[in-house]
Amino acid sequence: MTLKGKTAIITGATQGIGRQIAYRLANEGISLGLLARTEEDLKELQKELQAKGIKVIIAPGDLSNRKEVEGAIAKLIQALDRVDILINNAGVARFGEFLTMPREEWEYVLKVNLLGSYYVTRLVYAHMKELGQGDIITLASTAGEKGAVSTSAQTASKAALLGMTESLALEARPHNIRVTTLVPSTVVTEKTIAQGFVKAKDQHRLLPEDLASYIVATLQLNRRSWLKRASLWSTNPS
Ligand SMILES: NC(=O)c1ccc[n+]([C@@H]2O[C@H](COP(=O)([O-])OP(=O)(O)OC[C@H]3O[C@@H](n4cnc5c(N)ncnc54)[C@H](OP(=O)(O)O)[C@@H]3O)[C@@H](O)[C@H]2O)c1
Repeated sequence: MTLKGKTAIITGATQGIGRQIAYRLANEGISLGLLARTEEDLKELQKELQAKGIKVIIAPGDLSNRKEVEGAIAKLIQALDRVDILINNAGVARFGEFLTMPREEWEYVLKVNLLGSYYVTRLVYAHMKELGQGDIITLASTAGEKGAVSTSAQTASKAALLGMTESLALEARPHNIRVTTLVPSTVVTEKTIAQGFVKAKDQHRLLPEDLASYIVATLQLNRRSWLKRASLWSTNPS
């Protein structure tokens, strides 16, 4: 199924996984609405993607700030006219033991990963219901399936996101809206390299382009079928 001519909003589009998703969707001929906090990065990516002959709208916004992110998403919906696809990708990764991690930081993880995704999805889902069709793809994490020492904020936020998308998927289904949740293990990005989780250019682990490939394949499925949730692992990371 061709995706050419469709429109998508991608949150967290300027770095890591979101940036690769933006490239792949642009290559499919999908017009894009891009959100992140840093306006200069958005402008630079917009210029690069517009060269592929698609419409690219940008809107800076912080997922932890409801009014700001709602304004940014409303702007993207209006400028794109219709939104066929939402990629809920933006997220933060902060770790620390339960008592030593500052409360404000713990709350921030929940605000961005759970509440931010909720604010974005709420607006776009309402729009898609009016259209009578859509695809919402959310990046959760294996951290949301299993806790570990120092991951309480990360695990709580992503587990809650899994719960939110599980319920929404069932609500949205009768409206021809497919809600897909991708659950990746560690992906090699500048962030995970800087955090010391992986080494640069580790070709044995998931790369952002692998996730982008899954997303394109999912979107290309005939609309009678739907990938509800998928765990994505590196085959042999050791
Ligand atoms: N990398 C992994 O190993 C891994 C594994 C499992 C799941 N995931 C999930 O995959 C998603 C993408 O991860 P990534 O590793 O590609 O992240 P990343 O490299 O850190 O990129 C994050 C993107 O989100 C934006 N962003 C960050 N905080 C934001 C906020 N408060 N409001 C709006 N935008 C914000 C960033 O731009 P600005 O800084 O300019 O805002 C950037 O474009 C996340 O949801 C993450 O939890 C990642």
